[in-house]
Formats: sequence, C-alpha cells, structure tokens
Amino acid sequence: MAYTVPKLKNYSSVTLDKTAEKLVALLNQESVAVKTEPDWKTFRDRWMARKEGILTQVNDQWLKAAPKEAKRDVGQRVNQLKGRVEQVVSATLERIKSGAAEAELAAERLDISLPGKRRPIGAEHPVIQTMHEIVSVFRNLGYSVQEGPIIETDYYNFEALNFPPNHPARDTQDTLFVANQESKPRRQQLLLRTHTSPVQIRTMEKMKPPIRMVIPGKVHRNDPPDASHSPMFHQIEGLAVDSNITFGDLKGSLDHAMKALFGSKVKTSFRPSFFPFTEPSAEMLVSCFICGGSGKRDLEPCRSCKQTGWIEILGCGMVDPNVFEFVKHNGYDPKKVTGFAFGMGVDRVAILKYGVDDIQLFFQGDIRFLEQFV
Ligand code: PHE
Repeated sequence: MAYTVPKLKNYSSVTLDKTAEKLVALLNQESVAVKTEPDWKTFRDRWMARKEGILTQVNDQWLKAAPKEAKRDVGQRVNQLKGRVEQVVSATLERIKSGAAEAELAAERLDISLPGKRRPIGAEHPVIQTMHEIVSVFRNLGYSVQEGPIIETDYYNFEALNFPPNHPARDTQDTLFVANQESKPRRQQLLLRTHTSPVQIRTMEKMKPPIRMVIPGKVHRNDPPDASHSPMFHQIEGLAVDSNITFGDLKGSLDHAMKALFGSKVKTSFRPSFFPFTEPSAEMLVSCFICGGSGKRDLEPCRSCKQTGWIEILGCGMVDPNVFEFVKHNGYDPKKVTGFAFGMGVDRVAILKYGVDDIQLFFQGDIRFLEQFV
C-alpha cells in the first residue's frame, strides 16, 4: 500500500489533532471518488487492512512509538480515527448499494459521440480576390497601400481634385449626397465618394514626396442597377509622385502591371481623355485577354470586347499642377514635382476574369453563386 502515515513531530494535542484532521480530509476525498464495489474493496483495504492498512500504520507509528506519558492521549485519538474510518467505509458501501453512486456516475458521464457544431469557413468574395490580385501586382512594384473614408467631403471628392464649384465635370459623377446639409459651407458637405481619387489628396497631406501608392476601396454613384451598373462598386487608385516622373513612366508602369495581371501577351493602348485632376489625361485599353485580341471566340463574336479586340480598363494621366497647389504646403510644389495617377474598376475586371454576365450577382449574396469562387 502506497500511503505512509507521517511520523509525529511531537505528541502535543495540537499536533495530534492537526495530523488526524488531515487524514480524515483524505478519507472523505477518497470516499467521494469511489463509485463501484470493486473500487470500494480497494478503498476499504487501503484504510483497514490488518497488514499495512492506514489504520495499522497509525497504530504502529503513533501509538506504539509514543512515550508512556502520551499513550493515553494518543490512544484516544487513534480510537476516534478508527471509528471514523469504519463509519466512512461503511457509508461508502451504502452509497454504492443504494444506487446513489451510479446516479452520480451517470450525471458525470460525457457523451463524446455527439458531433460538434460545424461552422462553415468563409471564403474571399470574387471581387475582393480580384482587388487583392491587382493590389499585389503594384505591391511587387514597391507601391504602398492606402485607404480613405467612403463618406467624403465635397472638398476631397471634388474641389481639391480641381472640380471647381458648379463645373460641368461634376455632372459626370452622378453623386449621392447626404441629405440636409444645405446650411454647411459647400466644401464641408458630405457625400458618398464617387471615386477613390480623394484619397490622393488625403495621402499627399499626410506623406511627403516621393510617394507611390495604390488605394483600393468602395465607391458609389447614382446609377440605377442593371447587368453592367451598380450604385456601389470598387476601384483601385494609383498615384506616383517624384521629382521627375513622365508620361513614359506612366505607360511603362501600367503596361508592366497589365502583363502581370492578364498575361505577358496582352498589349496596352492609350487614347486621349479628360479628367479635371489630370493633364494630359488618357484612357487605357488592354488587348482582349478573353479572345486574345482577335474579336472572335470559337468563331463566335467575342462578347467581352464587343468584337473590337480591346477592353477599356482604366482612366489615367499626369497629375494636374492645380491639384498639387492644394497640397503645396507638404512639399508638393508643382514647379518641383510631377506625378501620374490612374483609377481602375475592379468589378469589371472580375466580371471579365470569371465570365460573369451580370454585375448584380456579385452583390446579391446568393451562396450558390459565391461558392463557385472558393
Ligand atoms: N477617378 C477617375 C474615375 O473614377 C479615374 C481616374 C483616376 C482618372 C486617376 C485619372 C486618374 O473616373
């Protein structure tokens, strides 16, 4: 039997009581854990066996070893302890026989066969996947990533981007304004940003040149939803400003990015355009990566490029010096720095990439549609 009763340090009644108390605590603790008859037999023998039982050990180590004067005191305590052990051992058997122990056991039983709760793991939305792909192409070119607010002021969305108040260029951006702001000065009025370009200004206010950054995010326009329009969509803005940036840098960087995105065979082409915040401005086209630029797919007309062999993919241009005037105080002196900017629609790229024929499918949240992109 493993348990060895500790020798008494002395035979004072305090020491005797304390040591006996500890043994009783151990006895009770062990008794609770006994749930079956074979367990009980082991328990009984451990405490009461003639040879080596705990009571026998107590008898040998306490009573027999006690000096004459202490024998009476020790004897009394040993008898008390013996009575207690007998009582607990028989009560324990009682508990087993009455079925109480079994009930306790049943209450403690854990059904580990019950299957756990499964939480389906989500996946990246196809538009967000596309956004991450585009961003990572520019990250590899050393661009950092910036973000800005979706609810924007008139100042950042228009004024600082060289859209003067009442200028007709504002009409091209079908803006959703926040209601009831007539009492505020115009530049402080809130709207849902119509493009990611306001973050150009916000970052130039924060960071001195040289900068190279992309800005992904949601934008809104007052467009009725149809197969190719959505009042909410996604853009990625790009901005590079340094002391000697040219239109050649713009063309080279974007041509490289398109090849990284759509394959090394795609070609790029630029045609003149207008944006208030870039001068000169251009629209960039890529040769259709669906039909390879032939305008035909399996002898059928290619729907992705409407048989033209080209896909319009982004707006771009050299940052207008008037824009730098708004952030001149942070090192953007239009006499010293130049830069290029571009903005591309993410949803359209995703539509082409995945061959989806209705932009609405992206935003309806139908799991059967979204599961195809996992
Ligand atoms: N913000 C423009 C748009 O949404 C795109 C653009 C960005 C054009 C940067 C030029 C430079 O139409």
